[in-house]
Amino acid sequence: MGFDRSDYAGKPVIAILNTWSDINPCHTHFKQRVEDVKRGVWAAGGFPIEMPAMSLSEPFQKPTTMLYRNLLAMETEELLRSYPADGAVLMGGCDKTTPALVMGATSMNLPCIFMPAGPMLRGNWGGAALGSGSDVWKYWAELRAGRITDQDWLDIEGCIARSPGHCMTMGTASTMTSAVEALGLTLPGAPSIPAADSRHALMAAQTGRRIVEMVWDDLRPTELLTEAAFRNAITTVLAIGGSTNAIVHLIAMARRAGVPLGLDDFDALSRRVPLLANIRPSGAYLMEDFYYAGGLRALLRNLGDLLQIGALTANGRSLGENIATARVCDDRVIRSADDPLVASDTLAVLRGNLAPDGAVIKPPAAEPHLLRHRGRAVVFRDYTDLTARIDDPALPVDGSSVLVLKHAGPLGAPGMPEWGAAPVPARLLKNGVKDMVRISDARMSGTSYGTVVLHVAPESAIGGPLALVRDGDEIELDVPRRTLTLRVTDEEMAKRKATWTPRPPHFTRGYGRMFLDHVLQANEGCDFDFLRGATPVRAADTAGPSHA
Ligand code: FES
Repeated sequence: MGFDRSDYAGKPVIAILNTWSDINPCHTHFKQRVEDVKRGVWAAGGFPIEMPAMSLSEPFQKPTTMLYRNLLAMETEELLRSYPADGAVLMGGCDKTTPALVMGATSMNLPCIFMPAGPMLRGNWGGAALGSGSDVWKYWAELRAGRITDQDWLDIEGCIARSPGHCMTMGTASTMTSAVEALGLTLPGAPSIPAADSRHALMAAQTGRRIVEMVWDDLRPTELLTEAAFRNAITTVLAIGGSTNAIVHLIAMARRAGVPLGLDDFDALSRRVPLLANIRPSGAYLMEDFYYAGGLRALLRNLGDLLQIGALTANGRSLGENIATARVCDDRVIRSADDPLVASDTLAVLRGNLAPDGAVIKPPAAEPHLLRHRGRAVVFRDYTDLTARIDDPALPVDGSSVLVLKHAGPLGAPGMPEWGAAPVPARLLKNGVKDMVRISDARMSGTSYGTVVLHVAPESAIGGPLALVRDGDEIELDVPRRTLTLRVTDEEMAKRKATWTPRPPHFTRGYGRMFLDHVLQANEGCDFDFLRGATPVRAADTAGPSHA
C-alpha cells in the first residue's frame, strides 16, 4: 500500500468509517472531509485507515432506511472487531447513519468520536427560505389543493437543496447529531456547523487529531454514555423540538450502553424542559440561522440546571466546561428559558387500550384544538390502501374523522417507515382543513407536522389493538391526560381478536428474514433482540496476529 513501517508501527490505528455514497446527497462532501480527518490523524501521530460503510440514504432507500439501521450497526461493530483498529471516527449525519454508527461502536466499545455531516445551507424560492422536508410537505399540500402549479413544484425541487449536508430543518438528522453532541461523542459545537462552511473542514481535522489522543487516554464510549449523558440527550432533543424518531433511536442506543432508558423517561422530562430552538417544523428558522445564533452550545447554556453538566465528553472535558463560554447572538432563533417558544410538553407519551405499550405525539407540531379530540375512525388496512383511497371522493371522511393506518410498524411495513403523517384528503384541504388526527404504528419524518400519533405498540401486524379498529369506531385522544382510547368494549375487542389472523411474512430469507425474526417493538427501540445489552467484547474477539 506504499507505507513504510515507520508510518504505522507503534501508532494508534484509526478506522475512519465513511458512509459516503453517490446515492446519498447528505454525504456528498465526505470524500473531501475524510481527507481532512486523515490530515488530523496524521498530524497527531496516528495512522488513519478509511473504511467504507453502508450509506443509508433517506430519500432513496425503500421501503425505509430504518429497515437497515441495525444492519449498519452490525457492520460498524464487525468492522471495528475484525480489523486492527485502536479507535474510530464515525462519519455520519443522514438520519439513521448517526444512531447506527453509534450503536455499533458502543457495542464494540473502542475509543470513538462522531464526525457529523452538518446541515445544508437553507433553500430559497421566490424570496422565501425553504426548509428540507417541512416545505416539501407544505408545498405538496398546496399542489394537491391547486394553489401552486406543477412548474412551481419543479422550481421548488430545484431550489431546496443547495449544498452538501443533511436536512437543515430540525428533522431527524439535526436532532440526532445534536443528541450525540449532548451525549459527549462529538467535539463541542460540531453538529451545528453547516456542511459547506470552511469551519466544517477544520472541525473534521480537529476530530481526527482528537481521536488519537482518545486512544492514548483509553477514553471509551462506556465512560461517556452514562445515564446522565442520556438524560442530557433527551433534554436536548426536547429543547430543540426534535424528531419523534429520536425516541426510538435513543432507547436503542442507551440499551447498547447498558442504560435502561424507556418511554416514561421522555415523558417525565418533557413536562419540565422548554422548547428553546425556533427552528422548523416547530418554529420559524433553519439550521444555518441556528449556527449563526450560537448553535447548540448556546442553547445548552440557556438550559441551566436542566442539564447534568458534570458529564464527561469526547474532548476530555465536562459538558459544563464545553458550554461555559457559549453565548446567544440572536434570541429570536435561540430563546431563553424565561421566554421559551413552548413552555413544556414538546413530546408526549400516550397510553390506553389502543396503545398498551405506548404511543408518541409531538404536540408543538399539532393544531392545538386537536390535542383533545373525539372522532370516528376511517381505517386503512395498509399504506397501499391509504394511497389508493385517500383522495377517493366517496371516502366517508370529514375534518373530525380520525385516520387510522395499520401495518406500518416494525414488522408490518416492514421497517416502520415514515408513513405516519398520512395526507389530509385533497377535498378537505381545498375546504381549508389543514390538520386531522392520524394514528398509526409508523414513524414520521422529523420534518413533518400535524396531530399525528405514532409508534403505537404493540403494532397491528402482531395483533396489537390497532389491528382491531374498524371504520366508524370512536377514538378519543387526550394529550394533556396522555391517553389514547378506543371506545369499544373489552368484550367486543376480545371477539374481534378471536377472528384476527396475521399476514404472511414479507421475507422468508436473507437480511429481511433476520429483521422479522429479531426486531423489537418501537417502545424497545427496534433493536434486534440478540444485540441489546452491554455484553463485554471478549479479548478473543479482538486479539489476533494482525492486531497492532
Ligand atoms: Fe439525509 Fe434528510 S435526506 S438527512
